[in-house]
Amino acid sequence: MTTPFQALSAHHAATQPRSIAALFGDSGRAEAFSARHGGMLFDFSKTDLDATALALLLELAEARDVAGRRAAMFAGEKINETEGRAVLHTALRNLDATVMVEGRDVMPEVRATLSRCADFARDVRAGRFTGQGGAITDVVNIGIGGSDLGPAMATLALAPFHDGPRVHFVSNVDGAHIHDVLHGLNPQTTLVIVASKTFTTIETMTNADTAKAWMAKAVANPAAQFAAVSTAADKTAAYGIDAARVFGFEDWVGGRYSMWGPIGLSLMLAVGPEDFQEFLNGGSDMDRHFRAAPFAQNLPVLLALVGIWHNQICGHATRAVLPYDQRLSRLPAYLQQLEMESNGKGVSMDGVDLPYHSGPVVWGEPGTNGQHAFYQLIHQGTRVVPCEFLVARQGHEPELAHQHLLLVSNCLAQSEALMRGRSLDEARTLMAKKGLTGAELERQARHRVFPGNRPSTTLAYPQLTPFTLGQIIALYEHRVFVEGVILGINSYDQWGVELGKELALALQPILEGRQPATGKDGSTQQLVAYLRG
Ligand code: F6P
Repeated sequence: MTTPFQALSAHHAATQPRSIAALFGDSGRAEAFSARHGGMLFDFSKTDLDATALALLLELAEARDVAGRRAAMFAGEKINETEGRAVLHTALRNLDATVMVEGRDVMPEVRATLSRCADFARDVRAGRFTGQGGAITDVVNIGIGGSDLGPAMATLALAPFHDGPRVHFVSNVDGAHIHDVLHGLNPQTTLVIVASKTFTTIETMTNADTAKAWMAKAVANPAAQFAAVSTAADKTAAYGIDAARVFGFEDWVGGRYSMWGPIGLSLMLAVGPEDFQEFLNGGSDMDRHFRAAPFAQNLPVLLALVGIWHNQICGHATRAVLPYDQRLSRLPAYLQQLEMESNGKGVSMDGVDLPYHSGPVVWGEPGTNGQHAFYQLIHQGTRVVPCEFLVARQGHEPELAHQHLLLVSNCLAQSEALMRGRSLDEARTLMAKKGLTGAELERQARHRVFPGNRPSTTLAYPQLTPFTLGQIIALYEHRVFVEGVILGINSYDQWGVELGKELALALQPILEGRQPATGKDGSTQQLVAYLRG
């Protein structure tokens, strides 16, 4: 019997080569290969998907029981099987729900913690909670991975909504990071948030110690200007942080899915609890859409199916995320963790080698900057890179509307250019207009050919508000879920990060000179010798 994957591959092979532009001969294509929800438009018509491929992809989603797995996730089943955990970050933004975990409704506690975070944020913002030198002027969030990327990305994204203290983020164990962030801050008016689900992550704990030592030079009681966000209440207490400023969450919230809860405290301090609630509302809106919309109109499902088509069926190994929205400049980095830590797995849920590739390499930069850097390869390189554009209808600077128009025109031009390309004949005409003839015309024309036929999607939204950002982030979370279900993998563990951590620990005494490097490979020995100086 033919599997849906085989049917898709056979259809792909049978329709190659195919011109995306020619597919627009069907005048209803743009609408048919788009979906709208909550003010957003997802246009995937500039891909080489046709009606048959889309139907087969939708069948694949049915065959993989995406609906059943979705119900299991929202019902709190332990779908993170390798860690024996439920996956319930959605509970953090659906506050009216009843969510049972092991026979207990966890929502009263979720609501209580959110309200404690909001009270604390209000106190800090209103100057009721102060540092030892007066009202808090600066907040430093110390965390890494999911305890950094989400709030850092969102804090930047929502800059027009900032009306609280300045918020800074320190993640790297490289002392340069904390050094440069603390430089110029006043320790007497700085609040440090130690954000770590486990409260054991070496980078975070090392940076927390550095921040504490920095503060101890200027205030009598540094711990009084520390707050913590963690699932490990025992460890935060042992670190000396008053329980009144410790905000907990449960192990059914994965690190890279945690910004909706107390890990978002830094964002809440910047924009205030009301705008943070709007962010949650946006996520909740996308949850309802994901749960209710038929697959053919379901944004997360469609985004996932386009991803599966490009990666597993067409064989495009990477996907570029290109926000034409400067404030989403950290979105690609955020999505790198969300997507690659979730779906970068080589075995299926039952431990069998995947018969296809795992999730793609995700990368990107905001437009228009990327246009002046790596778009050359996207347009004329030999590998096809499916591009995912994001763009807002409206910016936040009415006085600079002309710049927003330029931004939008560039975004649309790129997807058009990627699809249309420029033929050799068109390039020859161009060169002839410049006065070239003969062999020189021919030679120069070759360099000006764009193969075109390169796929892209565009997610357009009204404006980057807290609500819209919540929608966008929940959309990508559910996309990762659907892709993971279709691939048959566990999107919620991350064993692949462990080996490097273990080896780093073992290398410390070697670098300190307390242990010999014998037993290490020749390359590592040579590097140790060089770096020890
Ligand atoms: O090393 C990977 C990881 O476990 C991520 O999954 C996580 O987001 C990050 O480290 C930080 O972990 P923690 O919040 O426990 O400090």
